[in-house]
Amino acid sequence: MKVAIIGGGGRVGSCAAFALQCSGVVKDLIILDANQATAEGEALDLVHGAAYCADQNIYAGTYADCAQADLVCITAGLRRKPDESRLDLINRNVGLFNGILDSLKQAGLKKSAIIFVVSNPVDILTQLAAERLGLPWQQVIGLGTMLDSSRFCSLIAAELKLPATQVRAMILGEHGDSMLPVWSSASVGGFPLLKFPGVTPTFQSKIFERTQKSGAEVISRKGGAGWAVGVTIKEVIDCIALDRQRVLPVSSQIQGAYGIRGISLSVPTVVGRGGVVQQLEIELWPKEMQALQASAHALKATRAKVG
Ligand code: 2OP
Repeated sequence: MKVAIIGGGGRVGSCAAFALQCSGVVKDLIILDANQATAEGEALDLVHGAAYCADQNIYAGTYADCAQADLVCITAGLRRKPDESRLDLINRNVGLFNGILDSLKQAGLKKSAIIFVVSNPVDILTQLAAERLGLPWQQVIGLGTMLDSSRFCSLIAAELKLPATQVRAMILGEHGDSMLPVWSSASVGGFPLLKFPGVTPTFQSKIFERTQKSGAEVISRKGGAGWAVGVTIKEVIDCIALDRQRVLPVSSQIQGAYGIRGISLSVPTVVGRGGVVQQLEIELWPKEMQALQASAHALKATRAKVG
């Protein structure tokens, strides 16, 4: 599968490219960036490690290359300031993002191309891409709450001194302030998390609060996320490349699940080679359902402010 990363010269894009090289699943990795020299440098640096990684074609490219790509990942954008919410980013990033959409339309996309949005505010930008690129909604996916869910699982594991790879717990809704934890279906090693000793309401509040603030916590220390967001991007792209049909908390335009329609956010989603296979409506606790609908409401209000 041929993957183009627009913004591949930045921290998020280059970490995603490195994760994709380490997994070795995709065949072609094309690095695009506003700074061509940076794109060439990142591609070179990756190629230099190929001998101990994978046999792939990795090179700096242009929008013309995106016309042949099977998946276009968009990580380009300005980063949040520590005290800035993702939605505050909207005005700064929408202009840049619309320019990228126009360039993609001008270059032409494969009819089967998947658009994978990472730039923030990811749910709003995913919705814009779904509205404006003329591709089937199933082919437009946002990273959504994949990163939040990974942080959620890792923080639960660390607190309980259990392996992170055995923790299964999702954050749904907005990748932002109105995200919600789904404790009702959380598990460790196949056992309900709520049955584990120490998993009290205080534990739950502490973990979720830390999850919500994790983005800002990283930004205040190193300027922005890289490694974790890179591996979650890899997880989605490899799932698509291999048609794994995994259930992932990615963002896409909701088609009626949980009574939500006309906005993009994260619900449990089966992801395969064609993008969204199915948006699952798994039973939630009433308070989780209310929080998910509140998240949709908040995102719709923001979408309404964008031209
Ligand atoms: C984060 O939560 C980059 O929005 C991403 O760190």
